[in-house]
Amino acid sequence: MKILGIESSCDETAAAVVEDGERVLSSVVASQMSMHGKYGGVVPELASREHLRAIVPVVREALERSATRLPDLAAIAVTMGPGLVGSLLVGLTYAKSLSLASGVPMIGVNHIEGHIHAVILEARRAGAPVEFPALALVASGGHTHLFEVRENYVYRLLGKTRDDAAGEAFDKVGKLLGFGYPGGPVIDRLAPHGNPLAVRFTFAKMKGNALDFSFSGLKTAVLRWVETHDLEAETAVRRAFLRDNPAPTVEQWLSVTPQRTLDLVASFQHAVIHELLTRAAASAELIDARSLIVSGGVACNSGLRTAAYASRLPYPVHFPSFGLSTDNAVMIAAAAFPKLARGEFSGLDVGAQANLTLA
Ligand code: KG4
Ligand code: ZN
Repeated sequence: MKILGIESSCDETAAAVVEDGERVLSSVVASQMSMHGKYGGVVPELASREHLRAIVPVVREALERSATRLPDLAAIAVTMGPGLVGSLLVGLTYAKSLSLASGVPMIGVNHIEGHIHAVILEARRAGAPVEFPALALVASGGHTHLFEVRENYVYRLLGKTRDDAAGEAFDKVGKLLGFGYPGGPVIDRLAPHGNPLAVRFTFAKMKGNALDFSFSGLKTAVLRWVETHDLEAETAVRRAFLRDNPAPTVEQWLSVTPQRTLDLVASFQHAVIHELLTRAAASAELIDARSLIVSGGVACNSGLRTAAYASRLPYPVHFPSFGLSTDNAVMIAAAAFPKLARGEFSGLDVGAQANLTLA
């Protein structure tokens, strides 16, 4: 049973064909990253326009590469939220027209559920399926959530960020220090060159739900540090450098980044990882989890992966491969597979929901 997945919630236009919820027959991702990089973040109007340009060729390529014709499909799965409404609408409207023209039923998918299914798909394919209940940490540019995942994909929200998402914190600090957008990948590559214990960031104690996150204070603390240590001049040098070299190597970044800034970067990343993992471990303990799933763009972070494996948790930890950590359509098709089995189709009247929640 083949499912075509379509994803357009943020700045990636993606399509994929997945068979039986686990065999990836094709996966195409057209990223707009370099375009938004110039503006230091995703510009919603530009994103929708790029999705419009990319959606038809991207879907066609995913079908062609998997040698699939529309009538071969059991369903068309599409992200219906959360995300940028203009971006979501492009994928959703296209999925509706394909469904209407071909008679193949449509399944609306929650983007966050997609991130969780990226891990479930790969674990199943590797012959070591995720055991339930699982604790899922979804950390990306738009979300930082902790979910209990029970058998049959029933979700319970245990904690979430009250302000910035973890990826957003990486992006804001990256921008603040002149490393461009997105900040996560650059900080990840530079952090091993600094001392993670050089700057001690403290977090205010959470009132209410102790499993919630807050990253805006950390960003402000980094800003303070930049101001009190006069880092503005070197930041300006990096900004100018980035204008001339759109994709610097680590060596090039190191040549324009003094040790004290590398220490700041390493300490910032260390603080984010510590926050993510302590709350994930506490949540897992609370629900007696039999596995931990980490997904979303921040799951690409090598420091997070190393720390998660090194912490010797009493249950297996699952990370997706890099390609399935950031936004893609394989995860959308995978999340739709159990819904197909249950006959949970969406009508053509379903709308894009910018703030769609999973639980
Ligand atoms: O899942 P994703 O592609 O899109 C959203 O749904 O937001 O995640 C993108 C986010 C960005 O904030 C980016 O900085 C972050 O994931 N990211 C990383 C890394 N790679 C991407 N953060 C930390 N370390 C990385 N290696
Ligand atoms: Zn995402």
